[in-house]
Amino acid sequence: MVVTKHENIAEKIFQLTLQGELVFEMGSPGQFVHLKVSEGTTPLLRRPISISKINKEKKQFTMIYRAEGAGTQLLSLKKTEDVVDVLGPLGNGFPVDEVTSGQTVLLVGGGIGVPPLLELSTQLVAKGVTVQHVLGFQSKKAVFLEEEFSKLGKTIITTDDGSYGYRGFVTNAITDHELTFDAMYTCGPTPMLRALEKLHGHKPLFLSLEERMGCGIGACFACVCHTVEDPTGTSYKKVCSDGPVFKAGEVVL
Ligand SMILES: Cc1cc2nc3c(=O)[nH]c(=O)nc-3n(C[C@H](O)[C@H](O)[C@H](O)COP(=O)(O)OP(=O)(O)OC[C@H]3O[C@@H](n4cnc5c(N)ncnc54)[C@H](O)[C@@H]3O)c2cc1C
Ligand code: FES
Repeated sequence: MVVTKHENIAEKIFQLTLQGELVFEMGSPGQFVHLKVSEGTTPLLRRPISISKINKEKKQFTMIYRAEGAGTQLLSLKKTEDVVDVLGPLGNGFPVDEVTSGQTVLLVGGGIGVPPLLELSTQLVAKGVTVQHVLGFQSKKAVFLEEEFSKLGKTIITTDDGSYGYRGFVTNAITDHELTFDAMYTCGPTPMLRALEKLHGHKPLFLSLEERMGCGIGACFACVCHTVEDPTGTSYKKVCSDGPVFKAGEVVL
């Protein structure tokens, strides 16, 4: 696919838009693509990145990623008109059909887990669902997508250091703002997912997980996690092909 836009939108955070026919295969929010970040064989492994916006009219989709390690730093060097080798869309995304028009949903994102919630929120709003967002970041410099989410529904930003918005954890922000909801969708660091499952797991709750990946298509078993019925045994789920989104109580976080 061809790079049509690539910009630095927050500290170490890049927004990459690609164009190509593959967009017509994308639909479910929360799915990801597996990107080859360089022309040669180094690094060998592709990098999994979530789809954050789909625009079929323009044949484009957008991702947001943090340039941290070697692979994502190489990716950040891609310029407009460059070609990127994309495998996808992969995985099972957020089940939009679990909620109906008139219901209220809470979307909770942490850091680099925020991007896939944008396409999810857009699709829920189109269905007539009321959306609220709680988005957690480390500090003011790391905040992105606030304007886009605010256009779709109530949006609370939290920062760990209090440099912007609510100071503290997303879980405390939900309680302090007395947010009520029929279902929750979330993506972010595992400790955040664990805390949300503990507090809100009695409601419909869908969590998007991150695991280190090899093949990305269910063949190499690099990304397995245990199921709740069999926490130490042989029963497992693959994050890349059974997930990345699971219902609360399905897998051990
Ligand atoms: C389903 C899924 C969706 C993701 N969506 C996003 C996103 O939208 N934006 C974003 O910034 N990041 C996302 N990530 C995390 C992202 O894939 C890693 O941060 C990235 O692969 C790290 O690569 P690197 O070159 O920076 O680091 P390196 O340290 O060079 O990576 C080395 C290897 O470790 C793997 N790896 C390292 N950290 C992670 C991690 N946290 N999760 C999974 N594999 C990792 C890499 O894929 C690679 O194989 C997602 C991960 C998964 C599994
Ligand atoms: S990454 Fe290979 S099975 Fe999931």
